[in-house]
Amino acid sequence: MNQKRKLIAGNWKMNGSLDANAALLQALREGVGTPACAVAVAVPAPYLAQVQSLADGSPIALAAQDVSQHDSGAFTGEVSAGMLRDFGARYVLVGHSERRQYHGETDAVVAAKAQKALAAGITPIVCVGETLQEREDGQTESVVKRQLAAVIHAVGHCVSELVVAYEPVWAIGTGRTATPEQAQQVHAVLRAQLAAATERADKVPLLYGGSMNAANAAQLLAQPDIDGGLVGGASLKAQDFLQIIAAAQSA
Ligand code: PGA
Repeated sequence: MNQKRKLIAGNWKMNGSLDANAALLQALREGVGTPACAVAVAVPAPYLAQVQSLADGSPIALAAQDVSQHDSGAFTGEVSAGMLRDFGARYVLVGHSERRQYHGETDAVVAAKAQKALAAGITPIVCVGETLQEREDGQTESVVKRQLAAVIHAVGHCVSELVVAYEPVWAIGTGRTATPEQAQQVHAVLRAQLAAATERADKVPLLYGGSMNAANAAQLLAQPDIDGGLVGGASLKAQDFLQIIAAAQSA
């Protein structure tokens, strides 16, 4: 059993509308009560203001899905950490595999984004994870360690302020979840890597993401080094997301 206060973060990806967001937030507010775990939703940038106001006074924290590695200037389409802070973002995802895969984000870019978030007082949720090919080639550990090392190196003494999410790429949106043992194995590797960089590695929440749902959350969250979840598809359905939050509270 893992007694730390857990974090359940929803990743809406490119989903939502003004109407759908209002309905989802209302249902979450009604259902969440005073949770014993931390809860966040990572929303598309145009909806930050809306969700900031919908979540106001609730335990649901606001998160963004990406942040620029630059402070300001001629970077059309980008959103800076300062802008996210203006709208009350508490967390931001950096290095999600969809950003790495479709937008060419390198480890160095991801590390720079994590730095910018921290400098603005926003907690980066650093996503790492191997592809199916990499797992089959026995490279899982070396890939996630390389991805995390770049961020650890860049953020220096702020390592203990990170959140890290292990998201095996082959489990994202596929319905194919890592087994609790597979996930724990990688989480233990990440914990050891953090422990080599900070005395407060135990404080860093290590989330699992990849087809987490109401049925499998409890078992995953019971693992000693799994401190929460980064939930995609299931975070769009209030009842499913609430059930995962409930699982986190009793794990
Ligand atoms: P999923 O997505 O829960 O739909 O697999 C997780 C994520 O990509 O963060």
